[in-house]
Amino acid sequence: MREVDRVLLNTDAVAEVRRHTAQFAAERGRRPRVFVLTFGCQQNVADSEKLSGMACEMGYEVVTAPENAELILVNTCAIREHAEKRALSIVGQYKHLKEQNKGLIIGVCGCMVVQEHRREQLKKSYPYVDFVLGTSVLHRLPEILAKKLAQKRRIFGSEEENAIAEGVPICRESNYRAWVSIMYGCNNFCSYCIVPYVRGRERSRAPADVIAEVKELVAKGYKDITLLGQNVNSYGKGEAHGMDFADLLERLDAIEGDFILRFMTSHPKDATRKLVDVMAGGKHIAHHFHLPLQSGSDAILKQMNRHYDRAAYLDILDYMREKMPDLAVTSDIIVGFPGETDADFEDTLAMLQRARFDMIYSFIYSPRKGTPAAEMADQIPKEVSAKRFERLLALQEALSLAANEPLLHKTLRVLCDGASKTDTGMLSGRTEQNKIVFWPDDGTEAGAWVWVEIDRVAPFALYGNKVK
Ligand code: SAH
Ligand code: SF4
Ligand code: F3S
Repeated sequence: MREVDRVLLNTDAVAEVRRHTAQFAAERGRRPRVFVLTFGCQQNVADSEKLSGMACEMGYEVVTAPENAELILVNTCAIREHAEKRALSIVGQYKHLKEQNKGLIIGVCGCMVVQEHRREQLKKSYPYVDFVLGTSVLHRLPEILAKKLAQKRRIFGSEEENAIAEGVPICRESNYRAWVSIMYGCNNFCSYCIVPYVRGRERSRAPADVIAEVKELVAKGYKDITLLGQNVNSYGKGEAHGMDFADLLERLDAIEGDFILRFMTSHPKDATRKLVDVMAGGKHIAHHFHLPLQSGSDAILKQMNRHYDRAAYLDILDYMREKMPDLAVTSDIIVGFPGETDADFEDTLAMLQRARFDMIYSFIYSPRKGTPAAEMADQIPKEVSAKRFERLLALQEALSLAANEPLLHKTLRVLCDGASKTDTGMLSGRTEQNKIVFWPDDGTEAGAWVWVEIDRVAPFALYGNKVK
């Protein structure tokens, strides 16, 4: 029914690079090192774990700093201009590492380099970059590396493939939280968004492959598993197996073990009552829904090509809350989309008040080359967007605090993430609703479940004490 090939890793290329890394190890008394730097969304985090996994398989040691690495892979994001600028600036800083170590190989991977103009820019202005590798061909890392090691030429072609690679080794950063990509690409073409251009058409992994991966993770003791896709509700569309996302989730929920299942992201136009029912009836499925609204104005939603309006959004939202009173809902909002009037923006604020999200990720609209919105008349001046952005943040802060207030004095189950990065002497973790919780360090290890009684709530965090 579908035209998507299932491809496997090129073992000949892996063996070829292994010969090189073995020789390096024999001469230097240590394995060559790989450093992978990740920008962008969870999908990219998951992709980077595959880049590290392949590098490990080829004999590299994964390290956490670029200095003294023999291979640097920068996994880029193109969602907003800021993300591209940061990646380019960091790649620029690697110039001096290359000067110190002529044998260093630098590869730029991911969403940014699928765009022709960025590949050209890297080729012309960043002569120390050795190769680029687009999102759909990441599993070709062994071939590219083998080629690069055999010859001095730089490799800047990007033949994207409409394929799904299975069996790519994954070097996971955590041993208790895991990402599982269930589908790739996006067909929605929201008018502002670059993703469909850099991630290609939607394609779903076979249910058996996803189920096997989740089973293996649970058996290894993973506690928190997130299913990933740009629009998980499109899972299985056009496939012969006839399983949709709700069906898949139900099958995964039936796996025995002590774990919670999450998923992201859902598109409101495809979020079904069937999915909500599966969530509400599940044993393992977290009561957290990330449902990007983008704008509260029907006129802007239409210009964004989102295919829903406020009423449809609220309809599914109200249904979710009715079925799961403890549900946390988070969302994404863009301010300053072309043509957004003061009245449109007020509609967004009104929707926030009505929807009572637990948290939002908010963004100032960033024009993306090649997308329809970038060509639209009436681009909003920076100062106007910035003012709106401030008002949005202020309102949401109050709403987030109000959403957390009912949790005061409650005892919540928390998955510990270890020492807090901001508060010394404190541990942090997350609840099933994905709320961040801090409590005094009592030696609890990362990856353990604890119960914490909340004695203080803030807009974006909860504080308390572990219950013995
Ligand atoms: N597939 C997901 C998320 C994609 S990117 C979804 O549809 O929800 C994550 C978020 O980045 C989007 O939800 C959107 O809010 C934001 N975003 C995407 N393109 C953007 C742009 N050009 N400028 C500003 N924010 C953007
Ligand atoms: Fe972008 Fe829209 Fe696809 Fe999300 S659904 S990735 S916002 S095009
Ligand atoms: Fe960025 Fe690509 Fe994700 S553009 S947001 S890394 S899909």
